[in-house]
Amino acid sequence: MYLEEGDVAEIGLSSHRIFDASGQAVERPVHVSTLSNESMELGEYRHYMQKEIFEQPQALADTLEAVCYSQSLVPGIFGAEAAAAFSQVDSILILACGTSHHAGLVARYWLEEIAGLPCSVEIASEYRYRVSVANPKTLVVTVSQSGETADTLAALNHARAQGHTHTLSICNVPESALVRLSKLRMLTRAGPEIGVASTKAFTTQLAALFLLTLVLAKQRGRLNEEEEQRHLHDLRHLPSAVQAVLKLEPDIARLAENFADKHHALFLGRGLHYPIALEGALKLKEISYIHAEAYPAGELKHGPLALVDQDMPVIAVAPNDALLEKLKSNLQEVRARGGELYVFADAGTRFHSGEGVHLMQMPEHAGYLSPILHTIPLQLLAYYVALQKGTDVDKPRNLAKSVTVE
Ligand code: M6R
Repeated sequence: MYLEEGDVAEIGLSSHRIFDASGQAVERPVHVSTLSNESMELGEYRHYMQKEIFEQPQALADTLEAVCYSQSLVPGIFGAEAAAAFSQVDSILILACGTSHHAGLVARYWLEEIAGLPCSVEIASEYRYRVSVANPKTLVVTVSQSGETADTLAALNHARAQGHTHTLSICNVPESALVRLSKLRMLTRAGPEIGVASTKAFTTQLAALFLLTLVLAKQRGRLNEEEEQRHLHDLRHLPSAVQAVLKLEPDIARLAENFADKHHALFLGRGLHYPIALEGALKLKEISYIHAEAYPAGELKHGPLALVDQDMPVIAVAPNDALLEKLKSNLQEVRARGGELYVFADAGTRFHSGEGVHLMQMPEHAGYLSPILHTIPLQLLAYYVALQKGTDVDKPRNLAKSVTVE
């Protein structure tokens, strides 16, 4: 039974009662779950987080299923009214918290570059209390794994109260409050995520946001047939590309041993991969309790370089993209201060392991989809560092899976 806003349930061994917000006893319809037992069982894995990291190829394939079997992209994947709504939209506002907010930060690069739409991304808990200027032509996109995060729900209500009418949610739970509140929706099909640290929900959110970008770009005449087919091809290849990255697991487990006695870590990325550095830092702090921060690498010299010494591991996300040479010179600044580098680099980037440089070679460069691939090793790193530290991986202290209170 899905509770309505304000409902309270009293559950006994053989009975239950539900009261609505005014205290009246009410009945709510029963839905029979289609989830298989298997999706809730650990199977061969030690923790749900590990299982969920390894489920990503399937979760992505499931999320992209409707698109990958079709020959072209249609707005209908976001709802029957999407085509009409998208044609009126001139900008995007993404609202989310935590990891879901990081997915929004990646999407901003895609939406502005590919679809040519101005995009802002706000932390829902801040937006809900901010006096902002509403543009009725903005599409408000809320992103949430659970669809029950109190701040994201309040931010959506705040946006609606300010006059925003175009609302879309990207969510992993079909019956959630967020989905019910939004006019348009795209469901990620990651399956239940039990570990508090969000993994497969994040990469499937990215896949959904990339689809949104492509659909908007096509509708705005910014995607020709050849480009559309190329993007569809890349999306079809994504699950196997993720599978290839997962093979790095044993190497990352070894690398993680170096972090057992560390108290701080610095994550660096540039452009599209700066949010991935943020996500890597969040994963590490959340489950290993190591203090971690992320910076766009170009910001190093504006402050964080002062922190770098031999006790500060510096983790760099190094895709083979247009900013590679800039990143390399940023990393030289780290080495010059004695910082120990852990570089996750694409093929062809010509990084070499050596004194103070640990190289983790990624199989390929995935273009616009590269942030999805670069997320995987950082999830594994956080997981194996947490094992080294002996923390409760699936239920880190002080945190809840769904943050339904302010
Ligand atoms: O369910 P949501 O996606 O709305 O949750 C938002 C955050 O609470 C969540 O992503 C949190 O940051 C994760 N525990 C991070 O791993």
